[in-house]
Amino acid sequence: MPELAVGGQRWQVAAGVNLLDALNGHGVAVPSGCRAGHCHSCRVRCIGGEPHDQLPQALPSSERAAGWRLACQCRVVEDLEVVPYDPRADGIDAQVSALSWPSPCVLRLRVIPARPLRYQPGQHVLLWSEDGIARPYSLASLPGDAPWLEFHLQCARPGAFADRARALQVGDRLRLGEVLSGPLHYDPAWEARPLWLLASGTGLAPLWAVLREALRQNHQGPIRVLHMAAPGEHYLAAELQALAASHPALVVDLRGPDADLGDLRPSRQAIALACGAPTRVEAIARRMFMAGLPRNQLFTDTFDKKPADSV
Ligand SMILES: Cc1cc2nc3c(=O)[nH]c(=O)nc-3n(C[C@H](O)[C@H](O)[C@H](O)COP(=O)(O)OP(=O)(O)OC[C@H]3O[C@@H](n4cnc5c(N)ncnc54)[C@H](O)[C@@H]3O)c2cc1C
Ligand code: FES
Repeated sequence: MPELAVGGQRWQVAAGVNLLDALNGHGVAVPSGCRAGHCHSCRVRCIGGEPHDQLPQALPSSERAAGWRLACQCRVVEDLEVVPYDPRADGIDAQVSALSWPSPCVLRLRVIPARPLRYQPGQHVLLWSEDGIARPYSLASLPGDAPWLEFHLQCARPGAFADRARALQVGDRLRLGEVLSGPLHYDPAWEARPLWLLASGTGLAPLWAVLREALRQNHQGPIRVLHMAAPGEHYLAAELQALAASHPALVVDLRGPDADLGDLRPSRQAIALACGAPTRVEAIARRMFMAGLPRNQLFTDTFDKKPADSV
C-alpha cells in the first residue's frame, strides 16, 4: 500500500484511492467545489512522488512543473508527499471595499487586493473566506479601470460561500487565489464581426467585463447581449441600457430564465460567448448550432456545481 505524507503526518492508503478523499478522510482539510477539474479549489503541491493525474490539461504546464495538482483528479499510485494550498501563504490578501444588492438575489462585491492583480476579461479567481471556504468567481471588473475587483455573487440559495458572502461587511478580509482562464475572452481579431454575449443569471459577470473590453477596443461589429433571469433579477439592466443608449451597435435583450430561444439567428460570421447555469448554457449552445453557427465560433463556460462538498 502506498504511503501518503502531509506535514508531519504519514499514513498508508489503498492503491488507486482518490487523493482528495484520502486527504479529507484523514482530517487534512482540502476544500473542493466541483470535483470535475473546473474550480481549482482542491489544489495541492506534490513535493515527493507522482500521483496518476486524470486531467493534466486542467493546469498550465508551468504550474504542473512546480508540482501543483488538482487533488480531485488524482489517484495515489505510489508513495506521495503533498503540501495543501494555503491561502494565507499562497493567496493575496483583499479587503471588501463595497457591497450592494443590484437585485434581491445578486450581491455585487468589490474588493481591493493588497497588490495589483493581472487579469483579463473573462477570467475568474478563487475567493477564500477567512474560515477556508474556496469558490471560483468571475471577474466582472475591467483591468485598469478601477482599483477594485468586482464580483457578482448569486446568493439566492443556501451555500457554503453564499452564506458567508451574505454576512460580509465593508472592511472584512478575503483571500484571492490564482487567476484562472476559461474559454471566455475578447479577441481584437473579432473587431468587425457580430458579437453575441449570452448569459443566464450571474453568468453575466464575465460577459459584462468582455462587453466593456470590446467597447474599449472599439469593436465595430454589432453586439447583442442576452440576459436570461427571473423577474426582478436582470441586475445590470440599467447599466446595459445606458451603454446601449450611447452605443447604437449594442442591442440588449432581457428574457426570463426559461425563455424560448427559437428566434435567435446569429449570422455565420458571428462569435458567441455563453455563460451561466449548465442547463441554460446547453440550451443556448443547442440553439446556436441549430441556427448554423460553426462550433469553433461558440465559447461556453458553465458554473458547474455539485452539492456542497467543502471544508
Ligand atoms: C469558473 C467558474 C466561475 C464562476 N463564477 C461565478 C460568478 O461569477 N458568480 C456566481 O454567482 N457564481 C459563480 N460560480 C459558481 C460559484 O463558484 C459557486 O459554486 C456558487 O456560488 C455556489 O457556491 P456555494 O459555496 O454558495 O454553494 P455550495 O455550498 O457549493 O452548494 C452548491 C449548491 O448546492 C445547493 N445547496 C447547498 N446547500 C444547500 C442547502 N442547505 N439547501 C438547499 N440547497 C443547497 C445550492 O443550490 C448551492 O448553490 C462560478 C463557478 C465556476 C466553476
Ligand atoms: S477542481 Fe477539484 S474540486 Fe473543483
